[in-house]
Amino acid sequence: MQILNNVSLKPFNTFGIDAKASFFVVPDHAQQIHDLFKNPKFNNLPKLILGGGSNILFQKDFEGLVLKINFQGLTHTFINSNQVIVTAGAGENWDGLVQFCVNNNWGGLENLSLIPGSVGAAPIQNIGAYGVELKDVFSHLDALDLQTFETRRFSHEDCNFAYRNSVFKNAMKNRFLITSVSFILNTKPLLNLSYPALLDEMNKSAVETSLRSVADAVIRIRRKKLPDPEYLGNAGSFFKNPVIDIAKFEQLKAEHPLIPSFFHHDGLIKIPAAWLIEQCGWKGKRFGDAGVHAHQPLVLVNYGRATGLEILELAWRIRDSVFNRFNILLEAEMNII
Ligand code: FAD
Ligand code: EPU
Repeated sequence: MQILNNVSLKPFNTFGIDAKASFFVVPDHAQQIHDLFKNPKFNNLPKLILGGGSNILFQKDFEGLVLKINFQGLTHTFINSNQVIVTAGAGENWDGLVQFCVNNNWGGLENLSLIPGSVGAAPIQNIGAYGVELKDVFSHLDALDLQTFETRRFSHEDCNFAYRNSVFKNAMKNRFLITSVSFILNTKPLLNLSYPALLDEMNKSAVETSLRSVADAVIRIRRKKLPDPEYLGNAGSFFKNPVIDIAKFEQLKAEHPLIPSFFHHDGLIKIPAAWLIEQCGWKGKRFGDAGVHAHQPLVLVNYGRATGLEILELAWRIRDSVFNRFNILLEAEMNII
């Protein structure tokens, strides 16, 4: 296992921020983690577990050890004639897993096609898109306790999943390294076309409805709407969509009759942050190399040489202006390091 010094993280975060890590390593099994954490050279240093770097903003250099997780492996077990459990190593590419399942006609992950990043990071914020969240198909995960170095299995209930949230962002933050994740998929799939934009896209195409055609429709929508980090640095939605109660929503609706809204659950209402940000005039704005995407204002972009602090400063200006106009405080989805 090669440990590198003073490494630029630019190729390892989709924002393309040129922060440096004092030490950088790519472990591919649990014993290496144990050795690294016990090594006297590193045991007092901060550590950062990194996947694909697609939900991270580096505001400065990381004065510690970055562990880019590369645990591989893809296995499956049929549990009855309708269901299969698929287990993937944390370092597997998320979309690689999704396309593998779609190609086998195992249903459940297709709406989550083309989300960047690794399998191991997916439960952290309970990734979601086009009417499906990871929690809908999650079976269990295995994780290494970074204090005791024991492996612990987390059930669905243990993970406490919610919208863009889980126990790993709260009570257990930075305590566990997820080593593999297991999903329960359907061998006789039912398609989920509940997201209106997805149904519209499906209706435009003449092909037969199947897991493949749903995955392809999701991929087409995403390619149209979201910037490809290969060409324009970004990390997807910078903020979460705010969730408010009915009383606050009624008040806002009286002041802003055109405000869009979606039913969340338990009488709560989700408001698209993209709309709030667009109303404040930010869509397509650029300040140096930090900008607000022209098609999706919830996505902040790096046109080339923006620093993490420049992106962050723009994000906080956006948050303040939305608060001043709508009295809604946007919460970052991003992991700010
Ligand atoms: P990283 O950014 O590397 O890490 C994210 C967090 O997880 C960090 O706190 C890190 O320390 C922790 N972590 C990573 N791996 C592990 C591990 N093995 N064990 C413990 N902790 C770990 N997200 C959505 O939910 N829906 C979308 O539709 C979506 N669209 C996106 C579109 C674009 C263009 C981009 C760039 C991002 C998008 N995202 C979306 C955000 C992102 O893809 C997801 O959050 C993804 O799961 C992050 O994976 P990653 O491996 O890149 O994580
Ligand atoms: N909108 C605008 N102006 C725009 C774009 C959108 O006002 O320029 C409003 C419209 O009202 C639109 C609504 O925002 O109906 C929702 O837009 P969109 O369908 O693009 O989705 P989103 O709410 O902005 C969320 C997720 C995405 C996920 C999509 C699809 C969050 C924070 N973001 O975006 O996830 O891909 O839905 O399900 O929940 C991510 O988390 O990084 C991410 C990209």
